[in-house]
Order: sequence, then structure tokens, then C-alpha cells
Amino acid sequence: MPTVVEMKNIVKIFPGVVANDKIDFSLEKGEIHVLLGENGAGKTTLMNILYGLYQPTSGEIIINGQKHDIKSPTTAIKLGIGMVHQHFMLVQPFTIAENIILGKEPSKSGGLKLDMKTAVANVQKISDEFGLEVDPNSVVHDISVGMQQRVEILKALYRGAEILILDEPTAVLTPQEIDELGDILRNLTKEGKSIILITHKLKEVLSMSDRITVVRRGKVVETLHTKDTDADSLAELMVGRKVKLTSDKTEKTAGEVILAVDNLKVRDSRKLEAVKDVSFEVRAGEILAIAGVDGNGQKELVEALTGLRKVESGGISISGVDTTHYSTKKINKTGVGHIPEDRQKRGLILEYTLAENMILGYHTEEPFSKNGLMNYGEIHKHGQVLIKEFDVRTPNEDVKAKSLSGGNQQKVIIAREFYKNPQLLIAAQPTRGLDVGSIEFVHKRLLEQREHNKAVLLVSLELDEVMGLADRIAVIYQGKIVGTIDARDATERKLGIMMAGGQLEEARS
Ligand SMILES: Nc1ncnc2c1ncn2[C@@H]1O[C@H](COP(=O)(O)OP(=O)(O)OP(=O)(O)O)[C@@H](O)[C@H]1O
Ligand SMILES: [Mg+2]
Repeated sequence: MPTVVEMKNIVKIFPGVVANDKIDFSLEKGEIHVLLGENGAGKTTLMNILYGLYQPTSGEIIINGQKHDIKSPTTAIKLGIGMVHQHFMLVQPFTIAENIILGKEPSKSGGLKLDMKTAVANVQKISDEFGLEVDPNSVVHDISVGMQQRVEILKALYRGAEILILDEPTAVLTPQEIDELGDILRNLTKEGKSIILITHKLKEVLSMSDRITVVRRGKVVETLHTKDTDADSLAELMVGRKVKLTSDKTEKTAGEVILAVDNLKVRDSRKLEAVKDVSFEVRAGEILAIAGVDGNGQKELVEALTGLRKVESGGISISGVDTTHYSTKKINKTGVGHIPEDRQKRGLILEYTLAENMILGYHTEEPFSKNGLMNYGEIHKHGQVLIKEFDVRTPNEDVKAKSLSGGNQQKVIIAREFYKNPQLLIAAQPTRGLDVGSIEFVHKRLLEQREHNKAVLLVSLELDEVMGLADRIAVIYQGKIVGTIDARDATERKLGIMMAGGQLEEARS
């Protein structure tokens, strides 16, 4: 097969970091090539260089046998390169077709008027060709995250992409959507497209790819054929040590009730009932997981518990205090830690430094603040300690949060919330975007909370994570808890049936 992309000796230096250190990478026509590596290894940077978002410090790029300077995404698109970023960039009130043609509108006889009919037909044609099953007339804010991602893929194809870059496309997808994406990618390569995929999920790496390039600290460790490797070897290549992919949990009896949720009703941003009469308890020394397909009320539930969304009716009590109508600040003071699902929107202030982000929520307290003055000495020291303990990959505590890699941003939030040692930790998708080594670490810390008689509410789409960590699993479907089961009795199949709205009895049979 001909080589469509060759990146040779790529070096990219940011202040204080060599993000790419003489990387060689190639892509063959019709292959799916996974770029695998720890958080901060330099994967996104390398792909941003290929897509023209960054210029390499040195090195060269050869596309279809010709050397090119890719000065901007416009150049990349002309060369047939398309990129789907992790944070989608669609215009919510527009239809799918409108989003796809944005900036590339076909016009009637050269006039200014948009020829929507032609556009819809074109979009439909590409969708059918690759089995994307997209309806061009749906409005973006009505469609699922998985569908939005297909729209992003379609958008790249509409612009003539022959080479597709996908940066962690499955982090936000359900298991079924992940399978479907796998099929779509296979269809694309059958038609001669070539794909570079970044993902941390080893299962997918093994099932979807032809070759894998492993990077660590900016350098290529190895490029191998997928058929010659397995999950354990990949994990070890990535982080340079053996990783335990499952966690052990001790037997433990739960103590007093820490979080009590009683008949809770919450509306979503469109005023529809998103949480319907939900009741449950989380006890000291217990991990309760909420499992479910994304968009079944988990987000609104967590927002209500943490004071970010108004409670319609029902009650919440934490350590015996009625917090139903408390502000976020007051809830924090009650001894609550919160790892939010959307790290960029809720968890961090991207323009602030890492050290500042690590004291958010307790920045007015001693020793970080005294007599109304910030104590920067203490703030820096605190940042340094947490960076070390949580293995945040960064040149120092003084860089802005926005310059960190995705997984390292997540680690900053995790460090801050664990540092509070909260009586109740509400962790929503805590390991999203983390590499296997960091997942192992976070799982260990979550179990330590339980060991220390703290209560943990874990909201996660990852069934392996839910079954490995929780004591009890409550399944949420269309805003209701359809059943709660002991984790020891849980199987993927049982949970799957319940997550699709089936009752516990059906799941049992
Ligand atoms: N715009 C930037 N300014 C400064 N440093 C940056 C910038 N972008 C990335 N870096 C640094 O370059 C290194 C590589 O980051 P990159 O985002 O490529 O990692 P990654 O492999 O994609 O990690 P993750 O799995 O966490 O997404 C990190 O140390 C990061 O802090
Ligand atoms: Mg990245």
C-alpha cells in the first residue's frame, strides 16, 4: 500500500517542554493507525501539526510523496486532511446540513442565495455512501453526542478528506455507539480512506486498528502491527511499567447515611423533567454508582446535588444537613468534593495557572489567603506537592491550565478534589480521557476513600469501572432509577438490559 503521510523527525518545543522529540510517523493508504500514549505524551500536538494548527520546530511532512509546509488547516484541507477534535464545534440551532456546508455553500448559478436542496442531497449522498445514517434535516441540539460526532466526520468528508484524524472520538460514546463507529471507520478504509485514531481504550485499539505507534514523553517507543500485541503489553509499553487493569476491593460494611436523596425532581435547560422522583442513599464507606446511557438525567442529577441546578421538588441531605436549596459554595463547605463531567466548562478556569486552579473553592482559606491577601508562596508550594503526588505532566505549576494536555487537565481537578478529603465525593466520569496508568491510580484513590469511611457517588458510562469499584449500582433510565443491584450480582448483560429501560426482573431471567 502506498504511504499517504510521512512525518519525519518532528520536533515541537513549547516553553519548558519538548512535546514531540524527533517523531517519525507514517500512515498507509486504507489503514487505521492508532496513536497511543500516556497523558501528555504528545499525541494531540503531533496531529495538530499535521492539520496545520501548529508549526513544527523542525522536521518534515510528506503527503502522497511530496514535501509540504502545512501552514494552516486551510492548507491541510486542500491536501485532503480532515480532523475531528474532541470538543465538537457544531452550531447548535442549525440543521446538520447547514452545519456541514457552513463555509462551503453550493450556490444557485453563482448567485449568493444558498441552494439548500443541493446541499441536503449532497450530504445525504455522502452519508449513504459510508453508512453514517445521518438525517441532514435534523437540528443539531436534538441529536445525540454520537450523532454529532458523525456529523463532524461527514463535514470532513464533505470537504474532500482522504486522510482523517480522530482525537479521542470514543471518550464520550456509549458502548453501542463505539461499535457503530468501528463499523463506520471500516467502511471508510474500504473506500480507500486512511485514518489516524487517538484513544486510550485498549479494547478499541485492539479491535479497530491495523497498526499502533506508542509514544512516551514525546518520543516514539515502537510501531507495531495490532495482530502481534495484546492489552497488557500495550499498557506496559505506554507507561513503562506493568499496569493492573482490574482493581481489588476489600469486604466492607457501610456505615451511616451521608447522602440522602428523596423524591428528587429536576428540570433540564429546556425545562423538561430530567430527574423524576429519584431516591437513593450513599453511606459512609460505600461507593454507589449510577450507571446508564448518557443523557438519561445523570448530568442534571449531579448538577442538582452540587448546587449548580435548581431543585424542582424533593430533598437532598448531606451528613444530616438539608442542602436542597444550598449554593455550590455552601455545599462544598458541608464536605463535598465534585469532579465534574465537563472539565473545561465546570472544573477549571483555563486562563488561570495550574497552581491557582488547584486551590479553586478554598482560595479564601488559610494558608492560601490571609487577611484578604493571597499567599502566593503557599499556593505555589501546594501546586508543586499535588503535581508530584498526582503525576501531572507539566513544566511547572505556573503554566496556564489551557496549555495542559486533556488528560492532565483532568488530573488537576482530581488532585484538587481529593486533597479536600471530602466526606462525600461526587465523581462524574472521573477517568474520562485518562491513560491506563492514571486510571489505575484514580481507581486506587477512589477505593481509598471508601476504605477511610468516606461516601462516594460515582457516575460513569464505563461498565468495567462501575462493576470494578461500586458496592451497589443504581441504573438510571429516562430520569428514573429503574433498579439498584449489588455489584457482586452485576453482569454487563444485566446492566445492559436495565440501561435500555428493562426491569430488574427481566434482567434476572
Ligand atoms: N499550546 C500549548 N502550549 C504549551 N504547552 C503545550 C501546548 N499544547 C501542549 N503542550 C504541552 O505539550 C505536551 C504534550 O501535550 P499533548 O496535548 O500533545 O498530549 P497528549 O498526548 O495529547 O495527552 P492526552 O492523552 O492527555 O490528551 C504536554 O506537556 C503539554 O503540556
Ligand atoms: Mg490529547
